[in-house]
Amino acid sequence: MSYPDDLRGMVDEALGRLRFSTTAPTAGLEGAMRYSLLAGGKRVRPVLALATARALGSEPDRFLPVAATIELIHTYSLIHDDLPAMDDDDLRRGLPTSHVKFGEDVAILAGDGLFAEAVRLFCAQPGDPALVLAALGELAGATGVDGMVGGQYVDVIAAEDDAAGLRALHALKTGRLIAASVCVVLILEGVHEPETIPYRRFADELGVLFQIVDDILDVTESDEQLGKPQGSDERHGKLTYVSLFGLDRARELAAESHAKATAALAEADGKTDDLRRVADYIFTRNE
Ligand code: IPE
Ligand code: IPE
Ligand code: MG
Ligand code: MG
Ligand code: MG
Repeated sequence: MSYPDDLRGMVDEALGRLRFSTTAPTAGLEGAMRYSLLAGGKRVRPVLALATARALGSEPDRFLPVAATIELIHTYSLIHDDLPAMDDDDLRRGLPTSHVKFGEDVAILAGDGLFAEAVRLFCAQPGDPALVLAALGELAGATGVDGMVGGQYVDVIAAEDDAAGLRALHALKTGRLIAASVCVVLILEGVHEPETIPYRRFADELGVLFQIVDDILDVTESDEQLGKPQGSDERHGKLTYVSLFGLDRARELAAESHAKATAALAEADGKTDDLRRVADYIFTRNE
């Protein structure tokens, strides 16, 4: 089974239509935001959101605002992750990173702008206003201190040095936003426990799996293949699944994580084929 390219196409089209600036002086900032947003990217998070809609029997296109919102947040996190003060990387999505192309000042603002515009975009998400608000809370939580930003903090201060700490780091840094890509659609659709339980277990495991595979690819692939610099983690002495366990064991742990995620998904009620395709892609990808 292959990646749901139809959903990816819908996401790319929706992102391409987005405009942010309404006055000439800020056109350059919009240019920087769109440069990173439209540089390519696997679109795993928005595709997961649309695949969740499909699993629940809904039309994916109704969820394009929330899907795009998530990709804007993710793109902001990449721009800031690459900054000299963070991972100091000069290649992203196959192009020079934002700060290399536009300067650090504009890159910081492009990230800030993407985050704020993400929230504005989310306000256009159709649905029961109480559910839209709850979904926004989930998304902000997954991005914030108990989510991606908190995980980036734990990563930069190198606070963890064992397996449990590493899993917790990955769950925050990458896991929460990936999991939220599934969970916001459950919220918007008003799905309650116990039906949400297998989806949430699937989503949590998938998020950690994503970063385990990211750690492996940082060692095994090339700049060209990844569209970002190979070996970045080692250069910065990062704690990763490969640095802690070695490549072979990291691969086994990825396989175990994939098996756990797909077992959870098998318990879910719904047309989950596309979610399964995304999980398989996340496990087997080389980009
Ligand atoms: C990279 O994310 C950052 C991590 C959370 C590991 P992706 O691998 O999803 O990057 P793009 O969106 O495809 O460029
Ligand atoms: C960063 O993890 C995850 C984010 C929140 C952006 P990495 O630093 O490993 O991501 P890459 O490898 O640069 O994409
Ligand atoms: Mg990083
Ligand atoms: Mg990085
Ligand atoms: Mg990485």
